[in-house]
Amino acid sequence: MSIVSAKEMLIEATKGKYAVGAFNITSLNQMEGVIEAAVERKAPLIIQTSVKPSQFLGRDVLVAIYRTIAQSAPIPICLHLDHCTDVDYCKKVADSGYTNIMIDASKQSFEENIRQTKEIVDHCHKIVGISVEGELGTVSGVEDQVKVAENEAALCSPDQAIEFIEKTGVDLFAPAIGTAHGVYKTKNPKVDFERLGKISKMVNGKSVKVPMVVHGGTGLSSEYVAKLLEMGGAKFNVSTELKYTLINSTYDYIAAHREEYDPGKVDVAARDAIRKAVWGWIDLLGSAGKA
Ligand code: 13P
Repeated sequence: MSIVSAKEMLIEATKGKYAVGAFNITSLNQMEGVIEAAVERKAPLIIQTSVKPSQFLGRDVLVAIYRTIAQSAPIPICLHLDHCTDVDYCKKVADSGYTNIMIDASKQSFEENIRQTKEIVDHCHKIVGISVEGELGTVSGVEDQVKVAENEAALCSPDQAIEFIEKTGVDLFAPAIGTAHGVYKTKNPKVDFERLGKISKMVNGKSVKVPMVVHGGTGLSSEYVAKLLEMGGAKFNVSTELKYTLINSTYDYIAAHREEYDPGKVDVAARDAIRKAVWGWIDLLGSAGKA
């Protein structure tokens, strides 16, 4: 039960009005911390890497470790490639054994975004068990190699969303609704909740077909998260918070134990901090006990 693709997991989440946390990892220690937290909370889980970590850690190494852990885990776990703008690399990563792929052609024209997304859907659907996420409109901020300035960000049009989903056959859909990658500059960022609600209703109103993805989780208040869940958000991406947690907890531990030379203890301190951060998200998203 433990190695799954995201689509079925997220259809259940949409129906149950909770969301699955999709946590970006940049190290194996972070990956273990995320998995420990989800197992402790009995929550379904999506682990994701953006392109760079899949290259510096090695996609085959990541897949081997993911599969070894996931096969015996008591919860379903997916391994997702986040924001990949390169069609050929998406295919390579799918072929190496990731269970979900996000092709991010959102900076291209509408027609080109459809063409590239469909190419990845066609490739992945030939491989059993791989689902594909596509994005329409653009999410501002920086995620790995994808940078979008605030004044370039464009929200997703509901009519185009329907056309995009129909023409690509995509499994998961990320509409740009004003959330952003990185740290929000204000406590109350301008998020178009109603837009998500409208798209979600148009796509999934009669029966849930294509679960909705919310990017830019870091820094969203519990009120915002609750509203986004109500509007149909089923996959919540969280990246920056886990990077800060890893670096700050590592720094704090070393600063407090300057005479110690035991790398394992540094890892344990960082892993504990990651676990606590992920617990917090699982509770916010309502996914505890849903595995
Ligand atoms: P944050 O870095 O803002 O948490 O966003 C994560 C994300 O959306 C990854 O795709």
